[in-house]
Amino acid sequence: MLLIFFLIREFLLFLPVFTAGGQGGDTEITVPQGSGVTVLIKPGTPALAPRPCHLLLAKRPLSVLLVKPGERTGFTFTCRDPEKHFVLEIQKNIDCTSGPCPLGDIPLQPPAAALPTLNKTFVWDVRARKSAGLELRFSGPRLRQIGPGDRCPDGVTHTVSGLVGTTIVKIGTFCGNNGTVSRIKLQEGVKVALHLPWLQHRNTSGFSIVNHTAIKRLCIIESVFEGEGFATLMSANYPAGFPEDELMTWQFVVPAPLRASVSFLDFNVSNCERKEERVEYYIPGSATNPEVFRLDDPQPGNMAGNFNLSLQGCDQDAQSPGALRLRFHVLVQHPQTESNKTYVVDLSQERTLFLTIEPRPRLSRRFVAGCFVCLESRTCSPSVTLAPGSRHKISFLCDDLTRLWAVAEKTLSCTDYHYCQRRSFPLLVPGDILRLPVQLRDFSWKLLMPKDRLSLALTPVQKLQQHTHERPCNASFSYVVASAGPGHDLYFGSFCAGGSIEQVLVRQNSSVTLRTFAPSFQSEVPRQGLTVSFLPYFKEEGIFTVTPDTKSKVYLRTPNWDRGLPALSSVSWNISVPSGQEACLTFSKERTGVVCQSGRAFMIIQAQRTRAEEIFSLEDDTLPKPSFHHHSFWVNISNCSPAHGKQLDLLFWVTLSPRTLDLTAIIAAVVGGGVSLLFALGLIICCVKKKKKKGNKGPAVGVYNGNINTQMPLQPKKFQKGRRDNDSHVYAVIEDTMVYGHLLQDSGGSFLQPEVDTYRPFQGATGKCPPSPPPMCSRAPTTKLASEEPPPCFSPEPESEPYTFSHPGPVAGSHRSTQVPLLDSQEPGPPTE
Ligand SMILES: *[C@@H]1O[C@H](CO)[C@@H](O)[C@H](O)[C@H]1NC(C)=O
Ligand SMILES: *[C@@H]1O[C@H](CO)[C@@H](O)[C@H](O)[C@H]1NC(C)=O
Ligand SMILES: *[C@@H]1O[C@H](CO)[C@@H](O)[C@H](O)[C@H]1NC(C)=O
Ligand SMILES: *[C@@H]1O[C@H](CO)[C@@H](O)[C@H](O)[C@H]1NC(C)=O
Ligand SMILES: *[C@@H]1O[C@H](CO)[C@@H](O)[C@H](O)[C@H]1NC(C)=O
Ligand SMILES: *[C@@H]1O[C@H](CO)[C@@H](O)[C@H](O)[C@H]1NC(C)=O
Ligand SMILES: *[C@@H]1O[C@H](CO)[C@@H](O)[C@H](O)[C@H]1NC(C)=O
Ligand SMILES: *[C@@H]1O[C@H](CO)[C@@H](O)[C@H](O)[C@H]1NC(C)=O
Ligand SMILES: *[C@@H]1O[C@H](CO)[C@@H](O)[C@H](O)[C@H]1NC(C)=O
Ligand SMILES: *[C@@H]1O[C@H](CO)[C@@H](O)[C@H](O)[C@H]1NC(C)=O
Ligand SMILES: *[C@@H]1O[C@H](CO)[C@@H](O)[C@H](O)[C@H]1NC(C)=O
Repeated sequence: MLLIFFLIREFLLFLPVFTAGGQGGDTEITVPQGSGVTVLIKPGTPALAPRPCHLLLAKRPLSVLLVKPGERTGFTFTCRDPEKHFVLEIQKNIDCTSGPCPLGDIPLQPPAAALPTLNKTFVWDVRARKSAGLELRFSGPRLRQIGPGDRCPDGVTHTVSGLVGTTIVKIGTFCGNNGTVSRIKLQEGVKVALHLPWLQHRNTSGFSIVNHTAIKRLCIIESVFEGEGFATLMSANYPAGFPEDELMTWQFVVPAPLRASVSFLDFNVSNCERKEERVEYYIPGSATNPEVFRLDDPQPGNMAGNFNLSLQGCDQDAQSPGALRLRFHVLVQHPQTESNKTYVVDLSQERTLFLTIEPRPRLSRRFVAGCFVCLESRTCSPSVTLAPGSRHKISFLCDDLTRLWAVAEKTLSCTDYHYCQRRSFPLLVPGDILRLPVQLRDFSWKLLMPKDRLSLALTPVQKLQQHTHERPCNASFSYVVASAGPGHDLYFGSFCAGGSIEQVLVRQNSSVTLRTFAPSFQSEVPRQGLTVSFLPYFKEEGIFTVTPDTKSKVYLRTPNWDRGLPALSSVSWNISVPSGQEACLTFSKERTGVVCQSGRAFMIIQAQRTRAEEIFSLEDDTLPKPSFHHHSFWVNISNCSPAHGKQLDLLFWVTLSPRTLDLTAIIAAVVGGGVSLLFALGLIICCVKKKKKKGNKGPAVGVYNGNINTQMPLQPKKFQKGRRDNDSHVYAVIEDTMVYGHLLQDSGGSFLQPEVDTYRPFQGATGKCPPSPPPMCSRAPTTKLASEEPPPCFSPEPESEPYTFSHPGPVAGSHRSTQVPLLDSQEPGPPTE
């Protein structure tokens, strides 16, 4: 039973093959005499079919069948799906070397319907006299050039090749839809291969060939734009080398109200023996046509009207020719109101200030029209860097300026410490930069000074607030302060106007980055300034001067927040208490959790007036309970070398309130009762009970500023002077201007790298907030804060919401119909606003 079933199944499976073999439709191909057409049937690549298929001519199997003019051939396939096995190639040779070419519309010959349904390639090979031009005109939709490896949606391609002597040069492969190429002119000869997949029932070639005068170059490709759009085009033979010493031209037809910009996506130059490889433009309105550019120059943009672009090769070095190749992009857009506006950025008085305008990183991969920054409104590129020492005139070709941002960097380098000591320099953003219509993302000052000679004081015009989860900064900009030591970068934090920090002292080379979050920074930055002064060297990583206001809590936290204070470093806070007030100092947790591998981590709270001090081991002791201070005091923290993952970070806050002690004393006096007096005394004792606690487990031998200076905190005294190796610090006396020294050549790694360093202190606390820098997001309040309102989750610049500016001037689009001679010598208007 089972056996019979299998036999039937096997029989049914094989049946179709036998029928196909027996009844496969006979096909006949006729090629008329004198047509110049040959038809070739050959195995295709790749043979996908599982079973072999044969081509039978009079029952004889053939691998290749060639039908010549005047022949009629009948044949059979042994399978029902010959399209998976064989392809057709129909070649027509047209020789007009000895007379005019009888061309015009090119028909499919024989018509596709008269041919078997196989993949077909129609090839027209036209040879003409050396100086004869030939023009291919595509009548249907315009063609789109595709790169090697790209496919057309419908599988129909036109491959165009030209002739240089006897060498065939591939001009390009094109899809027959939504492109811009309408005509291709060649000289001496042309070969067009039209590939039609077997399912395509197309019955026309889609082009005509007409004779033309000599074009005196390899080819001319005409690209027509009817509206906004883009085209990607390639040099002949791309990605292989462009033929030696050849010339190729692209003509662009751009409707009057639109603007075109060229950008090179990919290019290589060869090794030239004579001449120089270059591109030349004919740009309407340019007085200096042709405009010649090197391939690595920024290419022109913002061009109004038809223009053309030529690629000129050179005489290559025979030994090592190299390869010239080019793939480029032409973007045609409506002019933007901004594109007609010139902004002046005068950096002529600057020596170390570099301004880069570049695309804002995008989250989505969706295509968006390009944005260009144009220098002198002619050369446009997606990003530009304006160098110091000149006055720059820039304009924008961009429909949405929020897609760009500006980043500036200035180096203040002190090379002569005698000169710099105690001098101050304001950190100011030039007005020209604030007036640009793009967001100033970051303005960084790199502050460099001789090692172990000088330190820095950063003094703001208005007191600063440290950004914390508990009290996030919500101003339109912040200062991000970081220092760069030989082994480590130290992120001090992000500071905005409106707090209690009067000064930040930083030990060594540092960077201060003004980072903006809201468009109102343009008006707010000039009101808040920061001054940097060079001070004699000190050994704390940082010293913060804090003068709390009576109204609000001051939150402070250790530098390098979630990565922990660097090993063996110390930080101090000088906290002022106005007379008549008392300050309450509260730590956010009971224990620090630090585990020391070597050295000791400790904190000293010292009254400045009496010098009375309390010392806490941060490893063993619990942190002090809220304590009251009537006079200014120090909070000094020194780290050990902590074990991995057991870092030291501390958050504390200070609140002021009117001094209650006086009140108690008055009450005590009024009552005169000894009990009350005792009670009051008790209070005082309670408040200062920890005073002189002085390490309850033997001498707290700590490493204070351990990497430089070891000192027992039991004997508070001035830090001993560090070893001064005078020979290693010989500096030439320099003139004033030399303070603004060279730009630090190698900024790699050691300096603040905002995307990496700055945001990290917030890692792990982002919760429901986007991980956008800096995520000013609260984490769940600690238990000690639980009674408070959880601070709102606040991100000053979620990347999903583009940063918006209101652009001065007329609304976009109102100038669309105005034709602008774009490359005329536009007068640099005064910066607007
Ligand atoms: C026919 O053309 C298609 C692409 O258009 C290709 O995938 C297929 O392999 C070709 N068939 C043969 C037999 O070459
Ligand atoms: C071509 O058309 C397709 C769909 O019609 C579209 O997805 C594609 O973006 C177009 N390409 C160009 C270059 O316009
Ligand atoms: C091609 O086919 C279209 C219809 O699909 C027909 O109108 C046209 O006449 C045909 N052209 C030729 C040259 O056969
Ligand atoms: C094109 O060929 C025709 C004759 O076939 C001739 O009369 C005409 O001058 C040629 N045109 C050019 C531009 O060579
Ligand atoms: C071509 O240029 C690219 C950079 O544009 C370069 O990386 C590459 O090595 C060059 N190739 C050759 C063959 O010169
Ligand atoms: C390029 O444009 C200029 C000016 O429009 C024109 O004189 C020149 O013939 C053009 N060259 C080519 C090859 O199209
Ligand atoms: C700070 O930068 C200057 C200039 O680059 C350098 O000479 C000096 O050694 C740096 N200081 C430290 C502590 O690395
Ligand atoms: C910014 O924070 C301050 C207090 O720090 C508050 O008074 C103000 O309303 C906040 N502004 C915004 C826009 O949240
Ligand atoms: C501490 O801060 C106060 C207030 O700003 C200041 O007057 C005092 O000089 C500072 N003390 C030290 C040692 O810097
Ligand atoms: C605390 O730090 C400040 C500033 O670095 C220093 O002047 C003071 O002497 C330190 N106090 C103690 C007890 O170390
Ligand atoms: C561009 O500026 C020129 C003069 O500066 C003016 O004549 C022209 O109308 C402006 N065009 C647009 C589109 O704003």
